[in-house]
Amino acid sequence: MNSRELRERYINFFISKGHKRIPSASVVPENDPTVLFTTAGMHPLVPYLLGEKHPEGARLTSVQKCVRTGDIEDVGDSTHNTFFEMLGNWSLGDYFKDESIRWSFEFLTDEKYLGIDPKRLKVTVFEGDEDAPKDEESIKIWQECFASVGIEAKVWDGKNNEEAKIFPLPKDDNWWGPAGITGPCGPDTEIFIDLGKSTNYDTCPNGSDCKPGCHCGRYVEIWNNVFMQYNKNAEGGFEPLSQQNVDTGMGLERTLAMLNGFDNIYESDVLKPIVDKVKELSNTPLTPTLSPKSEGEIQNTAKGDGELQDAEKNKAARIVADHIRTSVFMISDGVVPSNLDRGYILRRLIRRAIRSARNLQTQEKFLIELVDVILGIYGEEYPALIENKTKIIDELEKEEEKFGKTLEMGLRELEKLEDINGEKAFNIFQTYGFPYEMIIEEIEKRGMEFDSIKLKDEFDESFHNHQDLSRTASAGKFKGGLADNSEETTRLHTAAHLLLQALRLVLGDHVFQKGSNITAERLRFDFSHPEKMTDEEKKKVEAIVNEQIKKALPVRCEEMGLEDAKRLGAMGVFESKYGEKVKVYVMGDDEKGVFSKEICGGPHVENTSELGRFRIAKEESSSAGVRRIKAVLE
Ligand code: SER
Repeated sequence: MNSRELRERYINFFISKGHKRIPSASVVPENDPTVLFTTAGMHPLVPYLLGEKHPEGARLTSVQKCVRTGDIEDVGDSTHNTFFEMLGNWSLGDYFKDESIRWSFEFLTDEKYLGIDPKRLKVTVFEGDEDAPKDEESIKIWQECFASVGIEAKVWDGKNNEEAKIFPLPKDDNWWGPAGITGPCGPDTEIFIDLGKSTNYDTCPNGSDCKPGCHCGRYVEIWNNVFMQYNKNAEGGFEPLSQQNVDTGMGLERTLAMLNGFDNIYESDVLKPIVDKVKELSNTPLTPTLSPKSEGEIQNTAKGDGELQDAEKNKAARIVADHIRTSVFMISDGVVPSNLDRGYILRRLIRRAIRSARNLQTQEKFLIELVDVILGIYGEEYPALIENKTKIIDELEKEEEKFGKTLEMGLRELEKLEDINGEKAFNIFQTYGFPYEMIIEEIEKRGMEFDSIKLKDEFDESFHNHQDLSRTASAGKFKGGLADNSEETTRLHTAAHLLLQALRLVLGDHVFQKGSNITAERLRFDFSHPEKMTDEEKKKVEAIVNEQIKKALPVRCEEMGLEDAKRLGAMGVFESKYGEKVKVYVMGDDEKGVFSKEICGGPHVENTSELGRFRIAKEESSSAGVRRIKAVLE
């Protein structure tokens, strides 16, 4: 079964059960800065899981683009990747455990759909703790499902792992969410395919204790049904939600691998052509079959005279394929490489891919050829990729060029060093964008002595200090950004809100505020955008701001909980203020149209007519991927 058939069968099955298909949201979550990327299909649905009405009704299904980079170091083994598609179905206060589990069982085992032998399935359920009781209901439903095909489904008793079908496990295994710091969550039941005892007999570190959830490779989780009945609040407590929801997610690549009998996801039709292309473009001969199963295995491979062994080469090809695929989706959804947050993750993916490609001695222009293959695989399902082709290639090539320069300059700097510590490493990383992994490689090459754990700790500390500083600087509050509370700075502060919204209208939704500094004379405003603004763009932005000034929009401040602010679509930096009430400044009203909504501490003028005429005095680069505008009111 190929990816197109699987998507279609899944969606049609749930449509036949009364669901409406909703499109995939962007990989950049809207109005949820507590996470950098959309990591699950439920992400765009958070407001509806919390009780808001969804325009499409209470039963939804989708194929969602997801990015998870937490396991980036494991990419290239049999199951890890940084981008995947999640097939999902949701009940927003409609059906609950009964239908959810029965439909999963039907879809997986019925010959009309996936036709998986029920003997190969094992499931886990929540064992209960002080926050929520043991999920007896799910156990009973699973037992009925298995009984319908003549299987007696035994509940695990702490022993007899081979005979048991249903495994009650703690929160670590069987609780999902929230996706951010707070939000909807609940007990889940996870569905595994058992590849059989022979898969792990000699190698499983847990020996006869191996059971679903063990990472030895015998059990592959393909579907997770979450019963979202709770909201985790800022104090860490679990409050019952006003409605009982179901949130399920099935990994497309993994399921494809299972259905086709592949031992790894890179054989699936959404990845194989990319890996094959990397190999084709490589100037080092590569074996056609993919063999590595784990990093361990690769590390154990004996090395010839400085030559990469097949397993390493295959792994490198998988890394290039995975990272470039993820980068393509990120850029298409508006992320640009930078040294902060999302942009940094993208930069890291591209640079890691380029490094692996260099090890494989790929031909020049390999990026463009890979983009073509990726667009060939996904263009029909995600047409925006085709529309954004030029932008994608442009960003990848710009980053490749920057990386080349960086390597030269960083290397020169590294050569000057007598010794190393976390701060020095961070400075090289920060100034030249020289990746940490490569700093280590270089200093190792030069025989410098260092304590790797200490160095990494110090580096991480410098990194986090730097990020915190940048966040404070960009916090919508302008706390440190306002020189004083004079009339002039207040007017410029209001102008800054209009400016942000105007920039987003003219340049796109990738524009976020990255910092600001306001004195009585001028406004300085940093924002994410990959290139110099054209004169025409600057004129348009000025015109929009001046139009809002002319409209004499009333400015009002509302206090509300953070969730409400997010729901309202207010712009702002959310992290540091979790759990608090926030102030949202709204410019405009129903009559004149609401133009801007931002979480902000103020102060602001009462009406935009007080601003006078807005003019952009200068537009320049601030740092990689960030532009700076200096503007005045005349
Ligand atoms: N949110 C759950 C998961 O990501 C089910 O979709 O596994």
